[in-house]
Amino acid sequence: MDPVRFDYGNLLAPRTSGGMDPARLEGDLAERFRVAHTAVEAQREAGVLGFLELPYGEETVDRVVELADGFAQWFEDVVVLGIGGSGLGATALGQALLGPFWNLRSAEEREHFPRLHVVDNPDPYTFAALLERLDPTRTMFNVVSKSGATAETMAQYLVARGWIESAVEPDKARGHFLFTTDPTSGALRQIGEPEDIPMLPVPPNVGGRFSVLSPVGLLPAAVCGVDPRALLAGAAAMDDRCRSDVLSENPAGVLAALLHAADTESGRGIHVMMPYADRLRAVGLWFQQLWAESLGKAVDLEGRTCHVGPTPLAALGATDQHSLLQLLMEGPHDKVVLFLGVEDVGVDVPIPERYPGIPALAYLGGHSLGHLLDVERSATAEALRREGRPNATFLLPRVDEGALGQLFMLLQIATVYAGALYGVDPLDQPGVELGKRLTYGLLGREGSERPDLEEPDASWVV
Ligand code: PA5
Repeated sequence: MDPVRFDYGNLLAPRTSGGMDPARLEGDLAERFRVAHTAVEAQREAGVLGFLELPYGEETVDRVVELADGFAQWFEDVVVLGIGGSGLGATALGQALLGPFWNLRSAEEREHFPRLHVVDNPDPYTFAALLERLDPTRTMFNVVSKSGATAETMAQYLVARGWIESAVEPDKARGHFLFTTDPTSGALRQIGEPEDIPMLPVPPNVGGRFSVLSPVGLLPAAVCGVDPRALLAGAAAMDDRCRSDVLSENPAGVLAALLHAADTESGRGIHVMMPYADRLRAVGLWFQQLWAESLGKAVDLEGRTCHVGPTPLAALGATDQHSLLQLLMEGPHDKVVLFLGVEDVGVDVPIPERYPGIPALAYLGGHSLGHLLDVERSATAEALRREGRPNATFLLPRVDEGALGQLFMLLQIATVYAGALYGVDPLDQPGVELGKRLTYGLLGREGSERPDLEEPDASWVV
């Protein structure tokens, strides 16, 4: 398998004036990383980091393939209902591996695999518009919620269930649903078991944002023809590369150590993920959630107040060269840019040679759109370097299952290393609980008190 490469030269000084002294990669950073690596390996041994076990779960992948094959034969549209870590993985995989305009292609062009819709937000305008366009008799819903308690997803399920039941015979409705949830508990299991709805497990030791390589991401991808085993093989290859406690040999370690130091020592706490490929745009969004929810914490592992965490930001090249780049080049020295490049794009579009007398167009002729995009990525990285702005590049050999599996695993492992370096638990998210409790109270959930909200003060409203 061709490896995903991580070029971090532009994170180092003096090559980039705002970068890190490379000697530290053999010195204190290497030592700091060794400690973090030991802590993460101990957690692996203790079975806490379930995402590291996913590449080797053959039984689960067999079940995913079996269910995916069955559903793909029966349905034209697959709707994934899931939010946060339960939706972003499927979005990222679908966008990367199904290619553009999948849902607009004919059944023949899709080789009769279904269309894929991932609906995370319970925005009534979107949901109503989607249902209006679907045929309930040919639509299945993959309801994804590890807890089985997420208000957005459960509300969508209730609407979808009613919509299916209004169109098919009562005993057929259950056949339009597949639940991906905790293996033993939660409302989805409570509903699914007596009705014999097929269910796939999210292992208890796999949190939502670490679940892309579990049935959460694998089922929606597999039902549309993606090879889940190739994804897992890519992830296993990266896991293998990240077993080393020698910093310079471990790509996830280098990423975590340099980004943590950039944040805590140089005030560069905004980490911009900027793919130069439309197909990888949602990988930036997936990373944004992973990095933010895992590392933004108020309390450290010793129980002390800390309020730490980098701020990830998803961007897209070359589009955001015309939006964010001015800020990245000349704004505060508080950012690190992570580019995603693709070596073999697979398709290219030649640019015809026309208008030799017009310099603004003449130089483009004879090149290709792929070359233009790639040159823009290199030029932007170099421009940032010259301005002393640290940046780094992940190079994917191509956008396929193997490369995506490697990339997801690299970023997840880097996140748990970063958790150890910041001294926080990357697996919890206590900060989102208060908002959920207030929502439950406002909607009258049993056992929840109605909260007193601060009334808007008219004198502060313009
Ligand atoms: O990463 C996480 O843990 C969260 O983003 C969850 O995935 C999200 O809140 C959805 O939770 P659930 O799968 O329980 O519906």
